[in-house]
Amino acid sequence: MLRIRPRRLRKSPAIRDMVRETRLSVKDFVYPIFVRYGKGIKEPIPSMPGQFRYSVDMVVDEVKEVWSLGIPAIILFGIPEKKDHIGSSSWADDGVVQQAIREIKDSIPDIVVITDVCLCEYTDHGHCGIPKDGKIENDITLEYLAKQAVSHAKAGADIVAPSDMMDGRVAAIRKALDEEGYQDVAILSYAVKYASGFYGPFREAAESAPMFGDRSTYQMDPANAVEAIKEAMLDIEEGADMIMVKPALPYLDIIYRVKQISEIPVAAYNVSGEYSMLKASEQNGWLDGKRCMIEMLTCIKRAGADLIITYFAKDMAKELANE
Ligand code: PBG
Repeated sequence: MLRIRPRRLRKSPAIRDMVRETRLSVKDFVYPIFVRYGKGIKEPIPSMPGQFRYSVDMVVDEVKEVWSLGIPAIILFGIPEKKDHIGSSSWADDGVVQQAIREIKDSIPDIVVITDVCLCEYTDHGHCGIPKDGKIENDITLEYLAKQAVSHAKAGADIVAPSDMMDGRVAAIRKALDEEGYQDVAILSYAVKYASGFYGPFREAAESAPMFGDRSTYQMDPANAVEAIKEAMLDIEEGADMIMVKPALPYLDIIYRVKQISEIPVAAYNVSGEYSMLKASEQNGWLDGKRCMIEMLTCIKRAGADLIITYFAKDMAKELANE
């Protein structure tokens, strides 16, 4: 005779629902949005079906929809008209992201506006830091990142999210924000960001692929896990309010480990390649897109993510509303 039968608790949908350990909520999500120069543009991103690049005048309607679905936050990425060696358009008062923040805050003041702070979308070489003789200069880059973060704060951003992976940038940004009177602006640090092939579709969308070399002198080696703890602890020490692990799916062990040691919220970035893989399989009829989306996001939360940055946010919000 079997005394213990785990299947008893799987007998019906109602019982399974009752004992379910992880539940997704629309409040878990952050929706990424690409803002580009120009007017009247809503341009599809070929490698990311269902995602678009919006000009500033077109972005508000999109954000209204996101907000009406109950999604509490967006993260903005900018595609400027002009790029240069130091990415100077990234801290311009009339830069694409700065303009978008103002427009969004004007019509939907309560949505949480997060901005990606990085140089790769704004530099002509496509690196996240400033190169000198083929090497990325860490400490010079910090000044420019701080300027960019301050300009986002000035435009009305609630949270700035540095994704460059330079050493010491959280401390540099915190200091600059405080000096300029933006003590209330939070930092969500891309603390544990790997040098990943899964960013491919994003780089097409943001026109930010490096022109020479790759990002492996600043982003982390996918083979390393202990180092993730070092990066997370450093950023917490430097004053991060939240930290992020990126990508998400191949790094669930990292999300788990980081969550164990963190006293601050942990976000996971379900990146462009993770989105595109599933969309492509769905379009080919190889995977059930809806089912796999729900499974993916549930597992990211189960691993320990308090927040999930995902291109699926709108689709998943609609699913949750139907439930
Ligand atoms: C900018 C940045 C990248 C992503 C977020 N911020 C690209 C990169 O580091 O090359 C990737 C997001 C995604 O793939 O969805 N540094």
